[in-house]
Amino acid sequence: MIWVDTIAELRKIVSGWRREGLTIGLVPTMGYFHEGHLSLMRHAKAENDRVVVSLFVNPTQFGPNEDLDRYPRDHARDRSLAEGVGVDLIFAPLPGEMYPEGFQTWVEVTGLTQGLCGKSRPGHFRGVTTVVTKLMMLVGPDRAYFGEKDAQQLRVVRRMVRDLNIPVEVRPVPLVREADGLAMSSRNVYLSPEERQAALILSKALFAMRDRVQAGETDVHSLREGMESMIKAEPLVQLEYLEFVDDETLEIVERVERPVLVALAAKVGRTRLIDNLVVGRL
Ligand code: PAJ
Repeated sequence: MIWVDTIAELRKIVSGWRREGLTIGLVPTMGYFHEGHLSLMRHAKAENDRVVVSLFVNPTQFGPNEDLDRYPRDHARDRSLAEGVGVDLIFAPLPGEMYPEGFQTWVEVTGLTQGLCGKSRPGHFRGVTTVVTKLMMLVGPDRAYFGEKDAQQLRVVRRMVRDLNIPVEVRPVPLVREADGLAMSSRNVYLSPEERQAALILSKALFAMRDRVQAGETDVHSLREGMESMIKAEPLVQLEYLEFVDDETLEIVERVERPVLVALAAKVGRTRLIDNLVVGRL
């Protein structure tokens, strides 16, 4: 596995691969790998001749009071995990390589970024779409892999790729959970044992909601109340948002009559977690 930290080295290697006619899969990440990241890499490995993983804690997608400085990092561990699933190249630039002095160009998706995490994290998606565009321009991948864990991010990136005619296929990968239901996240390391236990209410509430939909309940008001009362009973967990939105447009819905994305964000202690489920799929 090759490890590069400059754009020049990255370009040289991927252009060589392209000249040989090899297909390339790109997996953008911020590192501190868990099974969710590894699942993206495995999908990329299965569908492409070469797999490029970017490992970059992108400063432009963090707000001023967020966890940029304490975001977990462990390059040695990431390196061996990626090698273990057959990744060919890791691109791990320093911030100055991606955002040199004088940087002032941004990619912004408008409508889809208004609600959910876009509302509570102003500027977040502008940072995500800008860095993802840069990575796509640098690597020129045939396919790029995004997890359904970040449901809004996946839809925003898909929209951007369509709107800007970026020649890449966006491949969604299912959300990977711990055995007890907690959505895997690099941020789970922040949780104390009590918080880790309390955080389980988020996936439990989503699963209970899904059971009710499967039993025929379509009223969003009632489904939401059920989830809220479960989550409120857990004092260590503060809901930031809980929304029932159209799976494609992300517009708020009142009934589950077509695929509905049920997405939430919550603070567990100081740690912000997100989770989601799609219900009403035929
Ligand atoms: P990061 O949080 O490191 O996630 C990298 C990729 O892994 C994303 O596509 C995310 O959806 C996916 N992922 C994370 N946890 C997952 C899980 N439990 N199951 C399935 N997939 C999971 O998302 C980002 O980084 C950044 O915003 C990035 C796209 C790299 C841009 O900076």
